[in-house]
Amino acid sequence: MIKVTYSGDREAIFTDERINQLKEINHNLYTKQGAGSEFLGWLDWPSNISDEFLNRIQETAKEIQNQANVLIVVGIGGSYLGAKAVIEALQPYFEKNHELEVIFAGHQVSGAYLKQLMDYVEDKEVALNVISKSGTTTEPALAFRFLQQYLEDRYGEAAANRIYVTTDENKGALLNLAKEKGYNRFVVPDDVGGRYSVFTAVGLLPIAVAGFDIEQLIQGAKQSETELAHVDVESNPAIQYAAVRHQLYEQGYTNEVLATFEPKLAYVQEWWMQLYGESEGKDQKGIFPVSVIYTTDLHSLGQYIQDGKRDLLESFLIIDEVDEDLEVFEAENNADQLNYLAGLSLHEFNMVAYQGTSNAHLSGGVPQIGIHLKQIDEYHLGYLLYFYMLACAYSAYLLDINPFNQPGVEEYKTNIFKLLKKPGYED
Ligand code: PA5
Repeated sequence: MIKVTYSGDREAIFTDERINQLKEINHNLYTKQGAGSEFLGWLDWPSNISDEFLNRIQETAKEIQNQANVLIVVGIGGSYLGAKAVIEALQPYFEKNHELEVIFAGHQVSGAYLKQLMDYVEDKEVALNVISKSGTTTEPALAFRFLQQYLEDRYGEAAANRIYVTTDENKGALLNLAKEKGYNRFVVPDDVGGRYSVFTAVGLLPIAVAGFDIEQLIQGAKQSETELAHVDVESNPAIQYAAVRHQLYEQGYTNEVLATFEPKLAYVQEWWMQLYGESEGKDQKGIFPVSVIYTTDLHSLGQYIQDGKRDLLESFLIIDEVDEDLEVFEAENNADQLNYLAGLSLHEFNMVAYQGTSNAHLSGGVPQIGIHLKQIDEYHLGYLLYFYMLACAYSAYLLDINPFNQPGVEEYKTNIFKLLKKPGYED
């Protein structure tokens, strides 16, 4: 389903020592003995999802579609990027009016954004899905304070029927609020961290409300889970990807540029950046993840990638088949001198651009990884996201890092709280 190619020498990457290390990681992963193994709930989550759970998500999605034209999803980090990535990848570029418009909020603190959002939905029916595993994250909590008030002003007591809370089962300010107000509740499982939560209610509810097929998404993830559980390096693309990028990291390639030719994958790239950045960037180690969209960024960052500081590796996420395309036609006067392209489709152009760019960057000293996915639909996206999560766990363990915590995120929060004199942080 996914094919990984790379520019390096297979023998040098998969030494006996590396293969043994990968086998040990595989063993520790599946017997839940590695660092952070209390957060491995995502590993077999797709195959354990019950029909009852999926039905509840789908029923709730229908209820929201019936009561609203806009669902505002409030969350930050792993509590919004998975849903955003899948919805952006699947929805059309312009005709976004699927079943219902899904708008994200609480992922930044812009007064203008929130104000304009409330103005925008003034003549529309609104529902709210607030998502926070901890239930205490400041940015979504702030946005929710405004939006909850907005809904109560508009709908009075009936606002409670339009607010859906996805949070921890047992703790957090959001849970207490949800209980007090009697909001509909979904659970973020204890053993699934934010950036690994796209297949839980965190991702599934907004995706289903947007009108996409969550059963197919889960089927794809399940297939990925089943196919990638083994440790044979010859046929496990998740292990190949992790091992190749680790080998390159050891050679001094400390930044990974994830490139695509599909603008609709921009948020899959954002999701990937969070997944890898937050999972690996610890103890002064880790590959710094960045992303580019080609050919757009060949006219900006392309210069640096070709010719700048040589600590970059590049991974291309290539979609082999597209369902919509255009073919270059023969123009009578050929004034733009493009007739030499007649008969070529734009997808074919991009695939040539891929080859050309990849070769140019390779000869400029940027090692290459190719990740090939057949197409973009729910099923293949489910497969891809699970693939990236699994590869991330291998990759972090190769660095001897716990992939599932994020201690570094606390530092900035504490500083802000001190400056704001949050109770308990005054000193
Ligand atoms: O991956 C993570 O754990 C984080 O990015 C969280 O998702 C993010 O900080 C939001 O946390 P919460 O869901 O507790 O509001």
